[in-house]
Amino acid sequence: MKKAEIEFTVNGKKRTLFVKTNELLINVLRNDLNLTGTKYACGIGECGACTVLLEGRPVLSCLTLAVDVNGKNITTIEGISKDGFDPVQKSFLKNAAVQCGFCTPGMILMAKSLLKENPNPTEDEIRDYLRGNICRCTGYTQIIKAVKECANNHNQDK
Ligand code: FES
Ligand code: FES
Repeated sequence: MKKAEIEFTVNGKKRTLFVKTNELLINVLRNDLNLTGTKYACGIGECGACTVLLEGRPVLSCLTLAVDVNGKNITTIEGISKDGFDPVQKSFLKNAAVQCGFCTPGMILMAKSLLKENPNPTEDEIRDYLRGNICRCTGYTQIIKAVKECANNHNQDK
């Protein structure tokens, strides 16, 4: 299989790698860069566990070719918590929105993206935005509450 050099920025660090031209971004993140916070579950774009931010927008890394991120910026869950937990992470912890935790990295990155686009979402808007992220454990109630509370706190801080 042909290989290609890619240079991209992951969590603020420049990386240069040789990857197979058909290699998926999720494999490069997990296997080459040891960023295992990005979870591999369905592998077919149906669960959201592998969500990362590409230029600040959520993408499914199980459906993204590594060569397509050449020259771009990727943020994984490891990249949002450099100085302690991010506010969304804190809200998930406070509201017990985590059980097994497998869906949590993808869920948190989606929630961050939502709050950037829409700082004061309604419950329906939160449910709609997170509909592609499957959670087997929590029943979603605590997740929605965590996102809502994070938005409220943020808006009070303004
Ligand atoms: S692992 Fe990518 S959407 Fe499920
Ligand atoms: S907390 Fe277990 S899948 Fe969501």
